[in-house]
Amino acid sequence: MQITNKKKNANRMRHGEVVKENVFEDGVVPLRWLAAALAACGAALGVALLVDARLPAPLGRDAPPDRFIAEIAHEHLVNLTSIGPRVAGSYENEVLAVRVLVEAVRRIAAQASPHNVVEFDVFSASGAFSLTFLDGMSNMYRDVQSVVVRARGAGGRASPARSALLLNCHFDTVPDSPGESPHTAAAAHSGALFVIRYRYRIVHAI
Ligand SMILES: *[C@@H]1O[C@H](CO)[C@@H](O)[C@H](O)[C@H]1NC(C)=O
Repeated sequence: MQITNKKKNANRMRHGEVVKENVFEDGVVPLRWLAAALAACGAALGVALLVDARLPAPLGRDAPPDRFIAEIAHEHLVNLTSIGPRVAGSYENEVLAVRVLVEAVRRIAAQASPHNVVEFDVFSASGAFSLTFLDGMSNMYRDVQSVVVRARGAGGRASPARSALLLNCHFDTVPDSPGESPHTAAAAHSGALFVIRYRYRIVHAI
């Protein structure tokens, strides 16, 4: 009994008051940690500003086609975000966003050089997974759509390894978002990357 009390006291000194079994009150964050967090945020901001200042100038459509053309990426982004918030399962996400993506892929495929093949598919998947986030939560989804595009070189020897480089992102957003997310930007960039690739003979499938 005495040992347990000692243990309890030691825990209390380390963690603060017991809220419930094995859960201790967190206490106040010491000022030096707050100062360290502020300094870390300031340093991260400084690095971000430096990197931002060194970014190359965005290119327009008149740039050589083997470069990353920011104007096209921005247009993909505008086309997708002008739909507004796209919650999984909503008309905006399942019908309008899929339509924008499929139309963009069709345009890319139509302009592809004869050396390359651009194929696409829209498929639905259902499943479930659990996360240990917060108190733990289970995620279930049914008939969530994906737009899959594969670009590869036409003809030639078939590659024995059925491998490809996967560029992957989700295009849905949370309900109160402005319709933009880092993943939407990734979708736009993938589209622009595709535009770079399909003009040349693709050696490795994407
Ligand atoms: C954006 O949408 C417009 C209207 O549908 C279309 O003409 C244009 O080609 C699209 N842009 C891209 C990069 O797909």
